[in-house]
Amino acid sequence: MTLAKLQEHHIVGAPVPRKEGRDKVTGAARYVDDMVLPGMLYGATVRSTIARGKIRKITYGPGIPWEEFVTVTAKDIPGKNCIALILDDQPCLAEETVNHPEEPTLLLAHADRHKLRKAVEAISIEYEPLPAVHTMAESEQQSTIIWGSDNIFKSYLIEKGDVEAVWKEAAYIVEGEYSTGAQEQLYIENNGVIASFDREKGVTVWGSLQCPYYVHKALMALCGLPEEKVRVVQMETGGAFGGKEEFPSMIAAHATLLAIKSGRPVKIVYDRMEDMAATTKRHPSRTRHRTAVGKDGKILGGEIEFTIDGGAYSTLSSVVLSRGTIHAGGPYYWPSVRIRAKAVATNSPPHGAFRGFGAPQSLFAMERHMDRIAQVVGTSPIEVRGRNFLKPGQTTTTQQTIREEIGLDHLLSRALKLSDYHAKKARFARENKYGVLKKGIGIAAFLHGAGFTGSGERYLNSLVGVQAGADGSVRVLVSSAEFGQGTNTVLCQIAAEALGLPYENVVIAQPDTTVVPNSGPTVASRTAMIVGKLVQSAAISIRQTLTKTGLLGDEYTPEQFRVACREYIAAHGPLKAYARYEAPADIYWDDEHYRGEAYAAFAWAVYVAEVTVDLATYSVTVDDFVALQEVGKVLHPVLAAGQITGGVAQAIGFALYEKVVWQNGRMVNNQMTNYIMPTSADLPPIRVFFEEIGNVHGAHGAKGIGELPMDGPAPAILNAVEDAIGVRFNSIPLLPEDLFEALSAQSLDSKASFSTREIR
Ligand code: MOS
Repeated sequence: MTLAKLQEHHIVGAPVPRKEGRDKVTGAARYVDDMVLPGMLYGATVRSTIARGKIRKITYGPGIPWEEFVTVTAKDIPGKNCIALILDDQPCLAEETVNHPEEPTLLLAHADRHKLRKAVEAISIEYEPLPAVHTMAESEQQSTIIWGSDNIFKSYLIEKGDVEAVWKEAAYIVEGEYSTGAQEQLYIENNGVIASFDREKGVTVWGSLQCPYYVHKALMALCGLPEEKVRVVQMETGGAFGGKEEFPSMIAAHATLLAIKSGRPVKIVYDRMEDMAATTKRHPSRTRHRTAVGKDGKILGGEIEFTIDGGAYSTLSSVVLSRGTIHAGGPYYWPSVRIRAKAVATNSPPHGAFRGFGAPQSLFAMERHMDRIAQVVGTSPIEVRGRNFLKPGQTTTTQQTIREEIGLDHLLSRALKLSDYHAKKARFARENKYGVLKKGIGIAAFLHGAGFTGSGERYLNSLVGVQAGADGSVRVLVSSAEFGQGTNTVLCQIAAEALGLPYENVVIAQPDTTVVPNSGPTVASRTAMIVGKLVQSAAISIRQTLTKTGLLGDEYTPEQFRVACREYIAAHGPLKAYARYEAPADIYWDDEHYRGEAYAAFAWAVYVAEVTVDLATYSVTVDDFVALQEVGKVLHPVLAAGQITGGVAQAIGFALYEKVVWQNGRMVNNQMTNYIMPTSADLPPIRVFFEEIGNVHGAHGAKGIGELPMDGPAPAILNAVEDAIGVRFNSIPLLPEDLFEALSAQSLDSKASFSTREIR
């Protein structure tokens, strides 16, 4: 096929088959638990049973042949006892004190995986308990200090304009408090790794993970080994959603310590109960808004206080907080604003990365608050949003000037049309007078920044490689991992398009730190935009190398490309090109004042949820869902729609189903039978629509897409619930028991304390 021909039917934008799709559906794909190494042992973790205390004594109980087991404690750690990430405050194994339930304290390995459970149970740890902190409010009181000098992992202050001046100008001052709960990622495949150790080669880890180089860095510090003595390989990964961003470093560290001590490969794969109880979840949050609003419903300014619960160690809380803080003002223009944000410590397992990374929390608050502002002003949720939407030329809360076309008004009116919003709203109001089924419709408008925040991409300094073989095949070399979202496919599409080759000629290398360069972690909606652009540049370099040496003309067939590669390699050796991230010149970020260009690009969206509230069963059902977004160029229509559908489903769980029940800092409903997520039977038709406006920062104009759909559904659904029954819920998850409690209280109180009619 000629280049011109290929460009007629573009590969980018086409629904090409998923690269690893066939292996997944036929069962050929190899996950870590499919892998067995000769002489391999199985590992298990002994965990703390209390929230906070000093370790007094460890007893190895009777009836267990302990000499058959390999045991590891903190004393066996060759390097530093920490999981290196940002602050390095989290130990790999507790030494003198424990700071949360399920904290790893001791490791065991045995050749028979069935003998491990009894052995773990036979170990008893005696503690001297210390007072523990279990809520954000207790942590803020600082009467018990459990971390640092003030229980605060990180705080940010964003200030724009003169907030003090706006209160007296305000026609209305609207206040609200909003909160979100923890959420478990619930990937189908639990966390798992295999580690092996060889005195010559060092440590090798195969695992289910998102960020090979995060694990690499953590193992270097733990083992005191140079980079070439640590190898990390990503196996096929059955879902991640952020849950395999930082946690794999911990389980990899454990398997590595057992492998070093035993001299044999060690596999650790969690069962579901251990995975749910001990690994990271979404940060619970609380957001307070106080907003000065003009007569016409325009925001004049306001204060936002955003707090997240980080659990016992700092891990990623500072960056989750950062994203949540920057998204707290939503897609609106704030002439002035003061945002105070902090991540506080509690004695529960550290909360961590989960799709959206702080933004779903603060945007839930913003989008519920917009409906509240509309009520107070006496206008509609539509009008109040329209009046406040950011427009090109205006600045965000961090004073980033919006230079791209964004067209939020257009997104809003199209979403209203697609959902038949106005007609439905009127019909529901009429029909809700009768019966126990009350219907409502709600909207949310939001944004999501693509890539690392602020100077993050500059620090990451990502490197991407593309290699062509003598047979004309092309390999993409990145540490970016596939975990269901479509990375392999999309990056191969981009390389194929840039080289004018059929999609089938391009493959992606398995992420292995000895083979692929560090293209950064697979997080932050950064892969398609940032890594994709680098793949495109590296692929173009390969082509230029061949044309410059005269081996290839401007137009060529795959066969001519193959011959050129063969000749080049025979004469010069391997044909490889690399591309390194270069920060756009106009991106400026001030980390001290939290000001400037927070993200190179934002994706924008308007979502509409239609619900039925059943006053007999107190259940809420989502009946219809319209998800309209502008994510730049859609690289693959099926994968992109899949990202949105999955994100909306996961966010419906966040809003209406998934409740982590805590007891003394421990999740007690750590099973899929009592932590309820929505199944396909519980989901509405999720109707996905895209607007495509080009973007200069990504390959072919693509922006981030993975996290965006997690941000909007929860507030749209709670706005719809309020539309249906006139009761204001500002906390998620909203379960039938919450509705029951609120509605029972309301019927007891004839003054209807839940009326939405009161106006300042
Ligand atoms: Mo993510 S939540 O940026 O893996």
